[in-house]
Amino acid sequence: MRSLNQALSSLCLEDFASQSNTKRTCFIDHLGNSLEKFGFVKIKVPSLKTKHLKKGYKIARLFFNLSHERKMNYYRAESMGLTGYLKVPNNQDYNFVDLEMWMTKSDQPPVAASLKMYPNNGWPQEVLEFQTHTKLLYRLFENCAKVCLKACAFYLGLKENVFTDKVKQGGSILRYLHYLPSLTADKHKDKIILDEHEDVTLISLFTAGSTPGLEIKIDGFGWLPISHDKDGVILAGADMLKFLSGGVFKGGAHRVCFRNGAVQDRVTIIYSSLPRPEVVLEPLISSFKGKSSQIFIPSMSTADYMYKVPHPRKVSS
Ligand SMILES: [Fe+2]
Repeated sequence: MRSLNQALSSLCLEDFASQSNTKRTCFIDHLGNSLEKFGFVKIKVPSLKTKHLKKGYKIARLFFNLSHERKMNYYRAESMGLTGYLKVPNNQDYNFVDLEMWMTKSDQPPVAASLKMYPNNGWPQEVLEFQTHTKLLYRLFENCAKVCLKACAFYLGLKENVFTDKVKQGGSILRYLHYLPSLTADKHKDKIILDEHEDVTLISLFTAGSTPGLEIKIDGFGWLPISHDKDGVILAGADMLKFLSGGVFKGGAHRVCFRNGAVQDRVTIIYSSLPRPEVVLEPLISSFKGKSSQIFIPSMSTADYMYKVPHPRKVSS
């Protein structure tokens, strides 16, 4: 199996804000080219250190180790799985074992139309530093996502804030995911825990997780495991970005696979950039580099896009 480093070179987030026009232009071109060709970009984020992620895995695990009754105190039915705690039962459609999540929304007050979908998180009091550290992680991931969305806009020849305006004040979610041990895993065999899919968001930022499992699909390379947080985060293009870019950017296909009969549980962190529910989605360009858009879906609100359009593999994590 070829390595991730052979497929994707790494960008440094700070190059976007560099005084050097060459570095900034390189960042934009590299990010845009990589999303256009593969649907993925590997990004070093100097402010987001491995110790921050390890602490995130630790506090997430402490929360998930609470009793079911305590965790359900943080379930927010009205949020449709966008804030608080959620237990997702074993689902044959997506082929995953039991999965549970904690979702954190932005600190920013949501606009009126978003209030119903983004109720307050209600922070767990049982885990020391859960709130402060999660908020820190949210800010670090949010900053990375904003820079990358601005770079996407420049690459397409659009105004800098065309994507970030759609996500501000409440759209994006930081998730802690907990894959419970797969007790039926056969020793020495590989088991796909979450089937291949693309996310239904603008972009997703992936971490390697507490234990291996995440794999991304790169044209010409096949499935590649993501195994080192020290290499930075993986940015995956997602469904809405593909739609808004008129099909210029690809969606990044990914899956979770436990190799060699591994049965340990797994905690990971994912940040998803998501427009506010009332934001209207429509292709922002009709052609790029002489090629016409291949997107023929009518304009619609983000909420309708998420919940009314059938997606063959509709998973947002
Ligand atoms: Fe996903």
